[in-house]
Amino acid sequence: MILGIETSCDETSVALLEEDGRVRVNLIASQIERHRPFGGVVPEIASREHLQHLFPLVDRALQDANASWSDVDRIAVTAGPGLIGALLVGVAGAQGLSYALGIPLAPVNHLEGHLYSPYLQRDDAAIPLPARFLSMVISGGHSSIYDVAGAHVTMLNRTRDDAIGETFDKVAKFIGLPYPGGPQVEKHASGGTIDRKRFPLPIAQFKDQSLDFSYSGIKAGAIRLARELGVRAEGDPRLLSDFCVTFQDALFAQLFDRLDAIWVRLQRPLPTEVAIAGGVAANGALRDRMLAWGKAHGVIVRLPEKGYCTDNAAMIAFAAMQRPDASGDPRRVSARSRIA
Ligand code: KG4
Ligand code: ZN
Repeated sequence: MILGIETSCDETSVALLEEDGRVRVNLIASQIERHRPFGGVVPEIASREHLQHLFPLVDRALQDANASWSDVDRIAVTAGPGLIGALLVGVAGAQGLSYALGIPLAPVNHLEGHLYSPYLQRDDAAIPLPARFLSMVISGGHSSIYDVAGAHVTMLNRTRDDAIGETFDKVAKFIGLPYPGGPQVEKHASGGTIDRKRFPLPIAQFKDQSLDFSYSGIKAGAIRLARELGVRAEGDPRLLSDFCVTFQDALFAQLFDRLDAIWVRLQRPLPTEVAIAGGVAANGALRDRMLAWGKAHGVIVRLPEKGYCTDNAAMIAFAAMQRPDASGDPRRVSARSRIA
C-alpha cells in the first residue's frame, strides 16, 4: 500500500491506497472552524493544527485499514505549492517516518494530486486513466487547464490574478457569508433567477487573445454591485439569491469560454476525456454544466467524488502512483511554497 500525507493548507489528511488506486482510508481533519472567525486561513494556526493532528491521523489510518507499517511500500507527501509552514509539518513528518522505517518517500505536487483525482472511486479500484485527457483544476488557489498524457502534464492556461475559488470566497466574505464562500454562494444560488441586466458581470478577455483566466475584474465588479444594490447575507433573501446565481454563472461562463477556445486549438487526435478537479468542482451547477458540455462535444466527463474535490491525501497517494520512479531517499525531498 501507499500512505499519503497532505498538509498544504487548512486540511490535515492521511490516506492509505492499494496499488490499484483503491482507497482503504482517507482521513481528513478540517480546520475550517478554527479559521472561520478570521474569514480566511491564518498560516500560523494552520501549521499548529497540522502538528497536532498529523501523527494521530497516521496511527488511526493504519488502525482503520487493519494494516501495519510492513504493509506500507511507499509514503507520498505534498511538497508544494502551499503555505510553507503547513507544508513543512507534512514533509518533515513524512521524512521522519520514511527515514526511521526505511520506506521510500515520494514528493508530490499538490496540483498533480488534484488533476488525477477525478479517477479515484470511493469503494473501488481507480478508473483507468485514458492515454490523454484534459483536467481543469479549480480551487481556492488555482485555476488552470492541463493536458495530461500519463505522467506528462502540460499546463495550457492559468489565472493571471485571482483563482476562481478565491473569487467565490472574497465576494462571499464581502456580503457577509461565512468562510469558505463557494458552498455558501452555491446554497443561496439555488432558487435564484439569473439576472444579467441587473448584475452585469462580463467575461474577461485579453487583447492578445490569451486563453488565461482572469477573475479580478469579476471580483471587483461583483463587490461594487453588491455595495450599490445592498446585497447582504442578512438582507433581502430574493436579492441575495439572484445575485449569487448570477455571480456564480458568470464565474463558470469564463471557464467554458476558455475550455471552448482551448478545445478548438488542440492538436488532433483530441483527448477522449475531460475532467474537473479541486474544491470548486464540488459545485452542483458546474457539474451539471460540465456533463452537458461533454455530451455536446462527444467526450467522457470525469467528475471527482465530492470527498475528493477539496484537499485530501488520497489524491496525493494516487498522484504518486502515476510516477513510480519518483520515490526514494527522504533527504532529497523538500517543501516549496511555489512550484514553477
Ligand atoms: O481544493 P481546495 O480544498 O483548496 C485549495 O487547494 O485551494 O478548494 C477550496 C476552494 C474554496 O475557495 C471554496 O470556496 C471552494 O473551493 N469550494 C466551492 C465549493 N466547495 C468548495 N466553490 C464553489 N462551489 C462549491 N460547492
Ligand atoms: Zn487543493
